[in-house]
Amino acid sequence: MCANRETVSTIDQLLEPVREQLTAVESRLRESTNEEHKALTAATQHLLDSGGKRVRPAVALLSAGLFNADEDHAIALAAAVEMLHTATLVHDDLIDGSLLRRGIATLNSKWSPDATVLTGDYLFARAASFAAQTDSVRVMNIFAKTLMVIVNGEIRQKFASVSSLSRESYFQRIQAKTASMFALAAEAGAVLGNANDTSIAQMRCYGRETGMAFQIVDDVLDFIGTADRLGKPVGNDLQQGLLTLPALNFIEANPDNPDVAALLNGHRKDRKMREHLLQSIRASDAIDASLDKARDFVTSAKSALSAATEDKNQNILHAIADYVVEREF
Ligand code: IPE
Ligand code: IPE
Ligand code: MG
Ligand code: MG
Repeated sequence: MCANRETVSTIDQLLEPVREQLTAVESRLRESTNEEHKALTAATQHLLDSGGKRVRPAVALLSAGLFNADEDHAIALAAAVEMLHTATLVHDDLIDGSLLRRGIATLNSKWSPDATVLTGDYLFARAASFAAQTDSVRVMNIFAKTLMVIVNGEIRQKFASVSSLSRESYFQRIQAKTASMFALAAEAGAVLGNANDTSIAQMRCYGRETGMAFQIVDDVLDFIGTADRLGKPVGNDLQQGLLTLPALNFIEANPDNPDVAALLNGHRKDRKMREHLLQSIRASDAIDASLDKARDFVTSAKSALSAATEDKNQNILHAIADYVVEREF
């Protein structure tokens, strides 16, 4: 139900050159072990069946392809990245109390917190086991460090008070929770292809900058998207007391706005105030200013990529960076 045909075909067309490999990634993700409890098998299947854009595994495959990495190792890496992403979403939805993801009920809406946490843990472990299938200690190291960065970022966010959230801490936060995973995908692909250190660093930069843009757009969509289209609730961030770039831009331009004052004074549970503030932010320049910032990150991603490689396949990675800002879900 979350699918918007036009945008789906855009991302589908974009990923067409790696379709066959993505299908192999899909099969790898669905391989289950004999010892697995049937509840875990069912939960994993439910999550994988619910779709998702598969942007991160595509970045991993394309990066590995640019440097002629072994295909089986590239598929293992892509599976590791997508499974890591899936595991973070399971825990994120539990933490956020979100009931909808990819247009269907979240695990936490059906299961107890205990069962949801344990399923998330299991998926993290499966992701690590895919990372090990790359046969690269360096990739496993990047994988582990990325997970540490993500969790650190989430904890930092939990302990930050609404009013203390600055633009600088916003960028740190999205770097940790989202850009780090795109950086992992792009960097590890180059590592598997034995690229030189400069190219590896440039690919990491491409991933990070693309990921920054990706999260800014996700934060914009939380204001201007619809649950139907996104397949997940909207307006969630303000409700959680989370100030993302559109809100920060708006607050900066309207410091005396009474809704802003109420929000900063801790009245985020006031539904009427929140609705009013959401509408004001939607109608303001804060949205365009946020998208401009996302476009800056895309420009920076593309120049890092061009420096890393001359391969013509880099066009697809360029197009993915562009898509991140154009996307509607
Ligand atoms: C959602 O990621 C979580 C964020 C980091 C914003 P996606 O928008 O890539 O989610 P799926 O995988 O396509 O559902
Ligand atoms: C989630 O960010 C990023 C993670 C690392 C889990 P969001 O909380 O903005 O993602 P959505 O909007 O729920 O998909
Ligand atoms: Mg969330
Ligand atoms: Mg979001």
